[in-house]
Amino acid sequence: VADWQRSEPHEVAITVGASLALVATLCTLPRPASILVPRPYYSAYSQVPALLGLDLLTYELDREPGWQLSANSVAQSIRADTRALILNHPHNPTGGITDAPTLRQVEELASDASLLVISDETYAGIVFDGASVPDLRSIFRDRDLVRILSFSKLFGMPGERLGCTIAARERTTSIINAHWSLAMSAPASGQAMALQALRAGPDRHIRALVDQLARNRERAIEILSKCRRLRFLAPSGGCFIWIEVVDCPLDSRSFAQLCHEVGGVKVVSGHFFGVPSPAHIRVSFAVPPDELTAGLRRLVHVASTLESSPRTC
Ligand SMILES: Cc1ncc(COP(=O)(O)O)c(C=O)c1O
Repeated sequence: VADWQRSEPHEVAITVGASLALVATLCTLPRPASILVPRPYYSAYSQVPALLGLDLLTYELDREPGWQLSANSVAQSIRADTRALILNHPHNPTGGITDAPTLRQVEELASDASLLVISDETYAGIVFDGASVPDLRSIFRDRDLVRILSFSKLFGMPGERLGCTIAARERTTSIINAHWSLAMSAPASGQAMALQALRAGPDRHIRALVDQLARNRERAIEILSKCRRLRFLAPSGGCFIWIEVVDCPLDSRSFAQLCHEVGGVKVVSGHFFGVPSPAHIRVSFAVPPDELTAGLRRLVHVASTLESSPRTC
């Protein structure tokens, strides 16, 4: 992993997925503390702090341009007891990527407030249309940065539960100690598979994965664009589309339920991402193309036959 990521072995902690990388990293924070996460957020960003007794603060991502964070929103949310800031690029659920100049402004804020910056890069490498994730190592100081990587998406092995952190030596030691208390080690079978994938040279595999996802993404955009009640931006990366259901008489949870019970298609309700209303949902395009087409057509049908809206497809 150190070779792959151009870092040193003592900077790497191998963990049970990005999931326990996140938990172990948050365990290293002093208490009491609050942490700052983007909204909408990956659901673990609210669940894990609640389990660990950390206060949750959010900064809003801006739909324009492309679900990027704004330094203002971060600045307004920092409190005296804030100890860490989570960045997530490409972002789950929007697929947004914040540009380097904005991240440099964030670096100033983080440095002034002595925040640990936790960069969740679970979807790093899955980018479209020439997009790229800025190299955070050239923006943030080593000692303030913990990068979290996952083998689940990039290497298609979510069940093997393998992830890692990359951070300065001292922080890595604390993360390893916390992870040891939580899980001892990551599964040996997952480690063996990951090693095999890295030795085989991951680039070809990743290119094939991104090509397939790019085709699915195009298909999804084409189908969803036909319905004016489904408002979304093409994601720059990742494997999800974040959708606002325009003029929806229901909240996020009820609309997702309707999709399942009436439309026979499962989507994730916006409330899992901190957006209970107005109605938002997340759909995945990391599914076989035929299933994707069938599922999205069902979604479009449910959205277009919603009752109380003046607009229909
Ligand atoms: C943003 C984000 N971080 C972390 C994870 C956890 O990944 P892992 O399977 O490596 O535990 C996920 C999984 O969906 C995710 O979307």
